[in-house]
Amino acid sequence: MEDIEKAMDALLRASRVVVLTGAGISAESGVPTFRGEDGLWKNYRPEELATPGAFARNPELVWEWYYWRRSIIGKAEPNPGHLALKTLEDRLLDRFFLITQNVDGLHRKAGNERLVEFHGNIWINRCTRCGNERFDDTVKFEGLPTCPGCGSLERPGVVWFGEAIPSGVIRISMERVRSCDVCLVVGTSGVVQPAASLADAAKVSGAFIIEVNPQATPISYTADVSLRGKAGEVLPQLVSQ
Ligand code: OAD
Ligand code: ZN
Repeated sequence: MEDIEKAMDALLRASRVVVLTGAGISAESGVPTFRGEDGLWKNYRPEELATPGAFARNPELVWEWYYWRRSIIGKAEPNPGHLALKTLEDRLLDRFFLITQNVDGLHRKAGNERLVEFHGNIWINRCTRCGNERFDDTVKFEGLPTCPGCGSLERPGVVWFGEAIPSGVIRISMERVRSCDVCLVVGTSGVVQPAASLADAAKVSGAFIIEVNPQATPISYTADVSLRGKAGEVLPQLVSQ
């Protein structure tokens, strides 16, 4: 059997499916990934900007980067890869679960509902003092945003390097990966923890691992099948039956 057939077969037999996505699934929607050359912004690497230390030192710089990303994401539409995952959820309903590392909200825009946003959502501002969260669709830096409640500085409602994933999000994600029989890993470099370890946890629990990525990653060693192609091309084929 060809790899794509093996993957389709596993998906068709699966009773519980977990999908783990990263920046690669949004690449075809025009959202730059983090670790490609196009991921650089003004010569900064994400690891230098997405940290509490960077924000403490220079909140303007960090917010400017997030507004720049919002301006791109705001214009982006879900691509055939996102839509294929919506199709899969419609077919499996509660037997489907999506864990995304992306903060762009494109899975929700595609219509997926059974999901967690592991690293938060770029359209949320969170108060650094009282913790209040609000939706903010500003895409241009016009001074530091402040909390409508207490007037303190707000930060992006995302998880930064060195910060913990909210415990509820970890719990539900681990529950799901441990009880799935197919784990589909799409468009992630598999180097950022703890997200990357979710595929290992699925594997240890006996799940069949399908990777979709044009390039090899550390997850390729774990994967039962590695489909080397773009999400927008491979996923529609994968769910076509
Ligand atoms: P990366 O930028 O590290 O990796 C993107 C992956 O997508 C790479 O493995 C590419 O080969 C692959 N890729 C590119 N185009 C693709 C396509 N059309 N279809 C499928 N795959 C494609 O992004 P993530 O793994 O998501 O975290 O990065 C993980 C985390 O690091 C992010 O959530 C973010 C980042 O810094 C935080 O900010 C905490
Ligand atoms: Zn506040």
